[in-house]
Amino acid sequence: MLSTLYARLALVLLVLFFGLGIGFLLITRFVSTTYQQEVSQKMNRDLAAHIVAEHRLIGNDGVNRPALQEVFHYMMVVNPAIEVYLLDPEGLILADAAPPGKVKRPDVSLAPVRALLNPTARLPILGDDPRNPEGRKVFSVAPVEDAGRLRGYVYVILSGETQENTAELLRGSYILQLGAWAIVACLLFALLAGLLLFGLLTRRLRHMTSAVAAFEASKLAAPLAFLPHPAGRDEIDRLVTIVHAMSARIIDQLRKLAQTDTMRRELVANVSHDLRTPLSAMQGYLETLLIKGDSLTVEEQRRYLETAKRHCDRLEVLVGHMFELAKLDSRETLPQCEPHSLGELMQDVAQKYELYARERGVRIETELQHDAPFVNADIAMIERVFENLIENALRYTQEGGVVRLALGTDRRRVQVAVSDTGSGISPERLPYIFDRFYHSEDTPPEKSRSAGLGLAIVKRILELHGSAISVVSKPAAGTTFSFDLPLTR
Ligand SMILES: Nc1ncnc2c1ncn2[C@@H]1O[C@H](COP(=O)(O)OP(=O)(O)OP(=O)(O)O)[C@@H](O)[C@H]1O
Ligand SMILES: [Mg+2]
Repeated sequence: MLSTLYARLALVLLVLFFGLGIGFLLITRFVSTTYQQEVSQKMNRDLAAHIVAEHRLIGNDGVNRPALQEVFHYMMVVNPAIEVYLLDPEGLILADAAPPGKVKRPDVSLAPVRALLNPTARLPILGDDPRNPEGRKVFSVAPVEDAGRLRGYVYVILSGETQENTAELLRGSYILQLGAWAIVACLLFALLAGLLLFGLLTRRLRHMTSAVAAFEASKLAAPLAFLPHPAGRDEIDRLVTIVHAMSARIIDQLRKLAQTDTMRRELVANVSHDLRTPLSAMQGYLETLLIKGDSLTVEEQRRYLETAKRHCDRLEVLVGHMFELAKLDSRETLPQCEPHSLGELMQDVAQKYELYARERGVRIETELQHDAPFVNADIAMIERVFENLIENALRYTQEGGVVRLALGTDRRRVQVAVSDTGSGISPERLPYIFDRFYHSEDTPPEKSRSAGLGLAIVKRILELHGSAISVVSKPAAGTTFSFDLPLTR
């Protein structure tokens, strides 16, 4: 029953207000009684003194009984709630007007008497009630003196018998009843307001809980149907914002995970396809040679063997590239960075391809700034980047074309651009050229050495150097690949 936060809060509120109500009633009772006593004592403080002034209650021969009787009678008539006693200097009751048997104690304590005789005393002061051994009541007192000698006290109990319990007290007073009802009404109103407020506050939590439950029920796939309040700044709003962000992240991660899974599957399919093609070709030629070897001319045998070797080479390249990429992917391979002249490296690689380029009728141009910049990078890896980019550029550039290698610097980095005047890449294919095993469809795989891994390797190497590669290409006009590297300081 108390499983909801709201129910628990409501119970706490209920107990709190109940306690508060009882506390209020007790305080009201205490204050009203004490106030009544204070007022009564303040108003009648001098009553005893008046009696003493008007009557000579103790004479030379002891208590003046007739005078006392007169006082008792007079007081009874004026206010029956008032009781007058005559005390001796030690507090012993000498005379009273009570019916026989009503007075329960022989004397009263003098400490409150003395306290009240002090004019600066704080009221109310309660004195012993002669009619009740346990009771204490407000009183008025005045010393009776004769020829400068203290002969006793007139002790006046001011309120008659009082109501002892709260219910009686309330029943006896319209104003107190009204006050009590007002308190109850106020408390009830506050309680209702509190319950309403808690309801409003917990409502957002309830909404969020059901939204999160729905999110879980959707196998963490459907976006959370509960938006954080844009202007909200309290803890619940912050929680909602965080939960929202978390759920979005979970959805995103799961989607990425699924994507990676599909990609991995495609990759495996591509790899096996790319490996199988040269392998089965090689197998075919070798089998033919084995079966029909005798009936073939030496020339034919040689051609068959050469073809098989070509496929074998292609297989080697493919496996080599795959191994290289796998190494780059594993966390063990980190670039061994050292400062070196990027211009020199670029020219070295260009030189290596000079002959091949000339054979194809393509010119390699290098464009260097005077101060050959030093970069902090892994020499072997960057050399690989140049090789792959230049190889591509040469492969896709027709006779008479130009491959241009250019270096430019700004204050912190060196920009490298490898451009060609080749076939270019169509905009539809451009987004995929860095993907693994993506290569041009125009050359049949068994004819080309292409594995579709060159640019993936380039991209990975630059990633390891904290850089990225970008490409601009225009079909039939040319392609430019560019990246940058940090300068050595
Ligand atoms: N300079 C370029 N001009 C035109 N097309 C290019 C150029 N460079 C890359 N491409 C296109 O991008 C594809 C992917 O290039 P990538 O270097 O990754 O693979 P590849 O050259 O086909 O094979 P590999 O480099 O593994 O031998 C190429 O097949 C080609 O279609
Ligand atoms: Mg390539």
